[in-house]
Amino acid sequence: MNPYTKDHPLPIAVLISGQGSNLQALIDAIANGLPAKIVVVISNKANAFGLERAKKAHIPSVVLPHQHYKSREEYDDALAQCLQKYQAELIILAGFMRILSDRFVQRFACRILNIHPALLPKYPGLDTHATVLMAQDEEHGCTVHLVTSQLDAGPIIASAKTKVSADDNVESLKQKVHRLEHKLYPHIIQLYAQGRLKITPQAIFFDGKPLPPDGLQFASSSSTWI
Ligand code: GRF
Repeated sequence: MNPYTKDHPLPIAVLISGQGSNLQALIDAIANGLPAKIVVVISNKANAFGLERAKKAHIPSVVLPHQHYKSREEYDDALAQCLQKYQAELIILAGFMRILSDRFVQRFACRILNIHPALLPKYPGLDTHATVLMAQDEEHGCTVHLVTSQLDAGPIIASAKTKVSADDNVESLKQKVHRLEHKLYPHIIQLYAQGRLKITPQAIFFDGKPLPPDGLQFASSSSTWI
């Protein structure tokens, strides 16, 4: 149990479907002292580049192609078995492009986190950068939230904001938000590992106090990042 230390790290599983730049940020943060250990990387896609990153960092990886299962429940049961085998405490979704069933979410209640490239509750789902540009929003960012079976709708743990400039386009926003994600996700896992962030079925607590509905707030200029 937390607080976790370098000698007694928090066991996490990272679930991916693609590039895995957030996985890489976690690998790097761990190398720089984040007291966590990635016990397994699981991908539903055999060609996910994140698998190469796991291999390079000597982290065990498992490919669970969703096409091999008849239903979402069967897939999620296989995923659950894998997570139990590797004894992950936290399940970190990092670009894992699947909705998880109710049964799975309940089985791992309070233990599944996701990062989303928008300031939730605005813009759940895909194409968030284009949507922000269309809406002419002045700010954009990313959100770490607890996962429920509703897409991008679980309780918000933290968000990080950046300004949208007049010359931003989808690609530049994607890069800006990625840079924020790569700080925010390791930071939140650090707070959890330190025992400062506690997730219970009733509420999420930070330093003993319930989090407000919009969670912890960071800006690209915040001085409080790890
Ligand atoms: C990130 O933008 C994350 O917010 C979203 O999927 C993307 C994954 O990127 N859920 P990467 O695979 O970590 O590079």
